[in-house]
Amino acid sequence: MLGLEGKAALVTGSAIGIGQSAALTLAKEGAKVMLADYNEAGAKETAAMIEKEGGVASAIFLDANDEESIRAAVKATVDQFGTIDILVNNVGVTIASKDLDVLNVDLDYWDQTMKTNLKSVLIGSREAIPYMQKNGGGSIVNTASGSGMLGDIGRTAYGTSKAGVINLTRYIATQYGSANIRCNTVSPGLILTPTAKRDMTPEVLKILGKFNALPYQGEPEDIGNAIAFLASDASKFITGQNIVVDGGLTTKNPSVDDMIELMSKQG
Ligand SMILES: NC(=O)c1ccc[n+]([C@@H]2O[C@H](COP(=O)([O-])OP(=O)(O)OC[C@H]3O[C@@H](n4cnc5c(N)ncnc54)[C@H](O)[C@@H]3O)[C@@H](O)[C@H]2O)c1
Repeated sequence: MLGLEGKAALVTGSAIGIGQSAALTLAKEGAKVMLADYNEAGAKETAAMIEKEGGVASAIFLDANDEESIRAAVKATVDQFGTIDILVNNVGVTIASKDLDVLNVDLDYWDQTMKTNLKSVLIGSREAIPYMQKNGGGSIVNTASGSGMLGDIGRTAYGTSKAGVINLTRYIATQYGSANIRCNTVSPGLILTPTAKRDMTPEVLKILGKFNALPYQGEPEDIGNAIAFLASDASKFITGQNIVVDGGLTTKNPSVDDMIELMSKQG
């Protein structure tokens, strides 16, 4: 039990996938949850799921590209629940056909990605922090990605925006820790959300799963649980950290599999 009873949370990008799982877990642990998403109908459906289980939830339209819309979502949380204790900045997008290598990445797309994935975290945090300061503290949890820690053949803008999220997290933690405001990042590896399952072929999923240390793929609940832990007082001495939830993908020295093969040949 994480003891989130009475806490008020805003989760962005929570109609489906990781954000939805975070919202459901926070609610199960007792938090009152505002779901904010572009897909307002999906956010409302998720709020209804929470209420059906006896939880407290509400939903609001959010465009994470629009400063006013982010401000309105934070304010709606405070208006509805009296305060905001937990902010989960979860919206993050990538369009593989535009997000190419350094020589070819579409520059307008680059700017757009920084706005959606990184600036939205800055805006959400600066809207929520004054309420948290008044309230004696709070917890901000940002969703980054393994792509923010490693290089890749494409998705240059996405990975760079997520690296920005990981470091912005450290700045927020440094600047507002004295006000008892914590800020951490969760960096998922491949997570089998409905979108990932729809967009990736079995061949790609096999390649991405092959390098995990653990023999299975990540589920949205794995990230929802990590987010709820970081939102709660169970993690009260953790701030500014990037918690990697990737089945050990980035733990393993990439040469391990070849070394095992070589050693087996040598007998
Ligand atoms: N799924 C993965 O394997 C994976 C891996 C690493 C990181 N992540 C990160 O986790 C987060 C959630 O990913 P997911 O896979 O659940 O995504 P998803 O595509 O399944 O869901 C994203 C949600 O955000 C909403 N959204 C998108 N753009 C929005 C906008 N501009 N304003 C408001 N809402 C918007 C969508 O409507 C949707 O409900 C993202 O930040 C993503 O970068 C995901």
